[in-house]
Order: sequence, then structure tokens, then C-alpha cells
Amino acid sequence: MCKEKTYLLLRNYHHKIKASMPVIKIHAAVHKSLENFDLEYFDLYLIHWPGTSKKQLSDPINEENRTNSYKALERLYREGKVKHIGISNYTEKHLRHLLSVCTVIPHVHQFELHPCLYQPEILDLCHKHGIQIQAYSSLGEGALINGEVKLDCLESIAQKLSTSKALVLLRWAVQCGWTVIPKSKTVSRIKENSQIFSLEIANYDMDLLNKIHTYEPHRFCWDPSNVF
Ligand SMILES: NC(=O)c1ccc[n+]([C@@H]2O[C@H](COP(=O)([O-])OP(=O)(O)OC[C@H]3O[C@@H](n4cnc5c(N)ncnc54)[C@H](OP(=O)(O)O)[C@@H]3O)[C@@H](O)[C@H]2O)c1
Repeated sequence: MCKEKTYLLLRNYHHKIKASMPVIKIHAAVHKSLENFDLEYFDLYLIHWPGTSKKQLSDPINEENRTNSYKALERLYREGKVKHIGISNYTEKHLRHLLSVCTVIPHVHQFELHPCLYQPEILDLCHKHGIQIQAYSSLGEGALINGEVKLDCLESIAQKLSTSKALVLLRWAVQCGWTVIPKSKTVSRIKENSQIFSLEIANYDMDLLNKIHTYEPHRFCWDPSNVF
């Protein structure tokens, strides 16, 4: 693997770590992964989900496990084994709690974001603390571009810019200041998606896209709202 050309992001399923010894277990798991990849460090390591496997969403142990898992990431960060640390799928409540106990502010928060799911509270909190927002499911897992969810204004903006709906969705996120991680197994689409820096959406059209969630709300992935 050519490290200079590859930005490595790993997400840890912290539920596999027992509350009594999470720091040691995560620490060991990351060291093992580094060994497997034959790397000195990972660029970014995220806690994937605020809940705990095989525990009720409402179980207070979720909060304790999250805190302990994050402590392990802080230690790895201080050791230089991960260059950036972060979280994923945290709600405003989860993030507020983390901010009250952490010693390293998360560098990245990855969560579902697209014109049909705009989450102002968590966005504001990330902005306030300088946390880089990383959008996932920018294309609605494909549903926002394959006609499953029809968005007239998206179609017209794409036509106006002589581009694809996929590129408009990705460019909208980038103009909002977020990073994007579109997924495709199709080489031509991967190439197409890399063209987001060659177009610009006008303010008027950005406003149209910003309003979509008020009349066409959709969530395509999991909802962490009920995790304690
Ligand atoms: N943190 C989390 O909990 C979480 C949750 C979900 C996803 N993610 C991550 O987010 C990333 C995005 O994945 P996602 O599943 O949410 O999907 P997505 O990026 O919203 O959409 C992927 C779908 O869009 C299609 N597609 C991609 N580019 C296209 C283009 N230019 N034109 C037409 N269709 C296009 C793909 O089809 P083809 O593959 O057939 O080309 C695929 O079906 C992944 O890296 C995933 O791991 C993270």
C-alpha cells in the first residue's frame, strides 16, 4: 500500500469492548490493525455508533462505554498511532456529553447528511467546536438520483449546470463546508464523483437545496436518536 497516496479512515465498532476494560482492548485492537496493515499510524479513527451491541438502546451503559472508548482513542492519538480521532452517528446529546468529558475535541464527526436530512443542532455544535463534518449517504444510498425519491429542484439545478444529480448533491455538501465519502463500485461513477471541484452552485440554488428537508424528509440509514 502506498501510504503517501492513501488516506486511511477506520471505524471501530466500540461495542466489542467490555465496559470494564475498554481502553486496553481498543488500544490492543488498533495496534493489531496497524500491524496487519504494516503501518505506523492511521490518519483517522472513528467510533462508529453511540450504542453498544447486544444492549438496549436505552441502557445507560452506552454512555459509559462511549466515554471509555473515546478515552482509548485519545491515548492512541497522544501516542501518534492515529493522527485524527472522531465519532460517527452521534446526536447533539451524545456529542454534548462527550465534549464535557473529553480532553481532545473530536476532529471529525461523520453522520447522515443530504438535502432530505439536514440536522441543524448537531451541525451548529460541530461548527462551534471546530469539528469537521463528514457527510455520509450524500446520494441517499442511490435513492436521490435513481428516481426512487424525486426532487424536482435537484433535476433542474443539474440541467442548469449541465451536470449530473450526483454531482449537484456532492457539490452542495462541499459548498456547505463538509467532506463527502460517496460510494460506488462503478469506475466511471467514481471518476464522475471526483469532478465536484469543477462546478459551483449559485447561492439561489443552494437555498433551494437547503429547503428540501422541510417538505421531503428522508432518512436512509440508521437513527441514533434513541441511544442513551
Ligand atoms: N458511519 C456510518 O454509520 C455510515 C453509514 C452508512 C454509510 N457510511 C459510509 O458512507 C459512504 C457512502 O455510502 P452510502 O451507502 O451511504 O451510499 P451513497 O454514497 O449515498 O450512495 C451509493 C449509491 O449511489 C450509487 N452512485 C454512486 N455514485 C453515483 C453516480 N455518480 N451516479 C449514479 N449513481 C451513483 C452507487 O451505485 P454503484 O455502486 O452501483 O455505482 C451506490 O448504489 C460509504 O463509504 C459508507 O461506508 C457510513
